[in-house]
Amino acid sequence: MASISSLSAVPRRLEGKVAVVTGGASGIGECTARVFAHHGAKLVIADIQDELGHAVCESIGQKNCKYVHCDVTDESHVKNAVDIAVKTYGKLDIMLNNAGIVDKNKTRIIDNEKADFERVLSVNVTGVFLGIKHAAQAMIPSRSGSIISTASMCSHIGGGASHAYTASKHAVLGLTRNAAVELGQFGIRVNCLSPYPLLTPMTTKYFGKNDQEELENSFKSWGNLKHATLKAEDVANAALFLASDEAGYISGHSLLLDGGFSIVNPTFNLFQYPDEN
Ligand SMILES: NC(=O)c1ccc[n+]([C@@H]2O[C@H](COP(=O)([O-])OP(=O)(O)OC[C@H]3O[C@@H](n4cnc5c(N)ncnc54)[C@H](O)[C@@H]3O)[C@@H](O)[C@H]2O)c1
Repeated sequence: MASISSLSAVPRRLEGKVAVVTGGASGIGECTARVFAHHGAKLVIADIQDELGHAVCESIGQKNCKYVHCDVTDESHVKNAVDIAVKTYGKLDIMLNNAGIVDKNKTRIIDNEKADFERVLSVNVTGVFLGIKHAAQAMIPSRSGSIISTASMCSHIGGGASHAYTASKHAVLGLTRNAAVELGQFGIRVNCLSPYPLLTPMTTKYFGKNDQEELENSFKSWGNLKHATLKAEDVANAALFLASDEAGYISGHSLLLDGGFSIVNPTFNLFQYPDEN
């Protein structure tokens, strides 16, 4: 569970806003839901892990948070999650399309199954498409809104994860840009977050490591920004910025949270200080 103690002195930046967070029962989504709630948003958490989702809502407070079972690959579920937000709280200001999966870490494409590839695309791409579609439906009449999708560093580079995952996250970036172009005329901003790997249930499963400290140290050692590790709270704070009015002129953007990893070609190694590291 994320600590949001560092935010306690900060003014509430989402006061009066209503958000739907898909994949909000765990990891980045859970942390972001807590940060959004802390900043005054009313929430619908949409996930398939019902027990976890209910528990997150309960700890946030049932008055300002509702859980809804929602498989993002099913259009009627996504529509229902948005409808519940509008019926319960009167509107939708923020849609966070965060639910995502990764397939097994198989190094050779010839070992990859079509069904696994399609399953990843179905959640990570179709799910985001449906989230943008139904959020737009709710936001267009009010001529405002912020739609955010959790993409990945893998939206920007090759070789960071499986073929299906990389393809899906490139597609999320494409959808973000296309939707930003279409929905700008209605004052709706559409952006995505592109994080470097961080410790969540998804990555522990993907890398098959039980030792979380060891996995986090691996992320740190691969990274460009040494002596720092990306946390779910960092991603949540970036989502908070994109969701808030402070990001009022930001649309069509992919906010990389990768400590500069994707802009470096480490083989050049131009700036190595002899006495460091
Ligand atoms: N952890 C990382 O290193 C990392 C890096 C970059 C991007 N991301 C992205 O962040 C997002 C959140 O991942 P996470 O790392 O917090 O993992 P996670 O597994 O902790 O959370 C993902 C959530 O999505 C939910 N979910 C899965 N399939 C769903 C479906 N069909 N319908 C509704 N909900 C569904 C899960 O139940 C879970 O609660 C994903 O889109 C992931 O691709 C993660």
